[in-house]
Amino acid sequence: MKTYTRNLLTALAIILLFTACAEKQLDELVQQSEETADVTETEPVQPEEPAVALPGLPNDVAGYTQWLKLNAEPIPPQPGGDPHNGTKNVYVNKIRDAIAPNGTQQFPYPDGSIVIKEATRPGKDYVGLIAIMRKKAGVDPDHNDWEFIEYTRNAAAAEFGVIAKDGVCWGCHARVEDIDYVFTELE
Ligand code: HEC
Repeated sequence: MKTYTRNLLTALAIILLFTACAEKQLDELVQQSEETADVTETEPVQPEEPAVALPGLPNDVAGYTQWLKLNAEPIPPQPGGDPHNGTKNVYVNKIRDAIAPNGTQQFPYPDGSIVIKEATRPGKDYVGLIAIMRKKAGVDPDHNDWEFIEYTRNAAAAEFGVIAKDGVCWGCHARVEDIDYVFTELE
């Protein structure tokens, strides 16, 4: 009888232990799944890569390659002397609808427009020239309020430096005064 009771007690103890264990495991499982659920709910949205300007360039042109591109195909070097020698792309910090409502480009460009041209020099594989036109109300009413500036560099990792600005630029860009001094039209 004594043995029987002991066995019974042992059995009970084992059952209790199991139940406790099972309960604990269940708790853990529930907790885990809650945690997983929490993680999916609160998982932070990956922030977009912040745009960083190429070294030596002002911050307002950071990420310009994401802007609206005016030309459909890269513009090849002009034979017989290219003022911005290289293969070029031209971008503007406006959406298509803002500069071409109803599909037709309107002039002049709105205040705050930034038009940027990058050129990859012949035989090179990095951007070696950046030319910028900024439309700033009142800055130069004689030339449609454009500010012109151009930067160059001679190595892929080098900083850009200012090479020329304003007068030398609008002297030539005035040829297309009728389309607000910007040669490249939206394609
Ligand atoms: C001798 C003429 C000439 C001079 C000088 C010149 N440009 Fe240009 N520029 C052009 C032509 C032509 C284009 C059209 C794209 C191409 O063929 O390179 C152009 C394109 C540009 C563009 C892209 C928008 C557009 O007009 O198509 C910018 C920005 C620009 N030039 C800035 C400058 C700046 C800044 C200077 C002065 C440092 C300058 N340019 C001097 C002829 C000139």
